[in-house]
Amino acid sequence: MKKLNIALIGFGTAGRGFYEAWQQLGTTRFNIHGVAVKDGEKERYGLHLNATTDVLGLINDPTVDVVVEATGNVKEAKLWYDATIKNRQVFVTANKQLVSQLNAFGNQNLLYEASCGGALPIVRLLETCFPHGVSSIRGVLNGSTNYILTRIFVDGFTFNDGLLIAKEAGFVEADERLDLDGGDPATKLRILCRHAFGLRLHADDVSVFPLIGFNDVDVKFIRRNNLVVRYIATATVEDGKITARVAPELVAAEHPFAKVLNEENAVSITDRGGESYFFKAKGAGKQPTGTALFNDLEAWSQGFRYKKRKLAKAKSTPEIEEVIVRTGNDFRSELTDAETIESWVESGQRFYRLRCCLNELARIPNVRSGEASVFVVGKDLTQKTFKPEYHRLEC
Ligand SMILES: NC(=O)c1ccc[n+]([C@@H]2O[C@H](COP(=O)([O-])OP(=O)(O)OC[C@H]3O[C@@H](n4cnc5c(N)ncnc54)[C@H](OP(=O)(O)O)[C@@H]3O)[C@@H](O)[C@H]2O)c1
Repeated sequence: MKKLNIALIGFGTAGRGFYEAWQQLGTTRFNIHGVAVKDGEKERYGLHLNATTDVLGLINDPTVDVVVEATGNVKEAKLWYDATIKNRQVFVTANKQLVSQLNAFGNQNLLYEASCGGALPIVRLLETCFPHGVSSIRGVLNGSTNYILTRIFVDGFTFNDGLLIAKEAGFVEADERLDLDGGDPATKLRILCRHAFGLRLHADDVSVFPLIGFNDVDVKFIRRNNLVVRYIATATVEDGKITARVAPELVAAEHPFAKVLNEENAVSITDRGGESYFFKAKGAGKQPTGTALFNDLEAWSQGFRYKKRKLAKAKSTPEIEEVIVRTGNDFRSELTDAETIESWVESGQRFYRLRCCLNELARIPNVRSGEASVFVVGKDLTQKTFKPEYHRLEC
């Protein structure tokens, strides 16, 4: 049988990971025909051919069957994708930004498992394992923030030290706001909602609570209450309406999400019959990402395709949840629909416990900027009181 000819675009963490997975698992069925990069002068140890900088020249080579895109570039990647459609080639990508912008659901020559959840084969699971449909999906989808949270709540570091260690380990961008603003898990959640529910979500349909404002005062408060925080993306569909959010969540130490450590990702899925499933795997790094790209290639060559279906526009509905908000200002006046408010004071900061509309809360300017931090109280904790060691104020 003829080997499939691959054009690999990008030879950084993900691209090299793909190349090594191919060396280990795929040389008899696939041939790496060419590799394209940005800097033609850089030394590429271990690569068996010379890399080119002429990406479109490589893609338009008539012998290329499959393009594996591992650059993170969005604008140019769209041009590369368009060229592969024209050439009737297969496009495998790790690029969540690109995927979230593509209007190509059901393209039989497009796979993008590596863009959501690293080694976790979550897109394929959603496509194949839930014939009666899914009612909710919850996940730790960002390895960088989970690495920071692990340093804080497992190793006992302060927030700033946890962030520093994660930076030194190469898990956080030089501008940490890019990891802490919640944009990455929100984009992945929107992609997963296509496969879980057949719904197209706009960025505004997801209420995002950043980790930017999470600080040592928050850590002290949460530790004193014997809890841990996980940064969880959640989407739930009920009666045809969706709620979707990304938020730091308080979970009990024995909760499965509390046991998702370092750069791991995890997803919990509830099907329409009410049965729940939990999946966990490494979410970032050379091997997990490279393997996810390679597995897409294998799956496609064995006949796997995403289902063709027309995506419906999501109808969002307000989500009422119990939260803890920490802010230096008087917060209550900004919320019109909070049901119950209790508050505690700690070193000039104020913690409020309230039931309120997350959509409204996410729009308040000091929440968006990170001046105030928000923690969703996990469902298993709603009976727990949060007042030890705090002076309680009468509202
Ligand atoms: N790293 C992870 O753990 C991980 C996990 C999941 C998904 N991903 C996704 O994988 C993709 C790549 O991430 P990465 O971490 O591997 O990035 P990276 O280490 O920075 O590597 C990027 C590679 O792409 C090449 N490149 C960039 N712009 C290019 C252009 N215009 N033309 C040709 N080549 C170009 C770079 O070339 P030079 O080498 O010449 O600079 C480099 O080889 C991103 O979409 C990312 O979101 C990464």
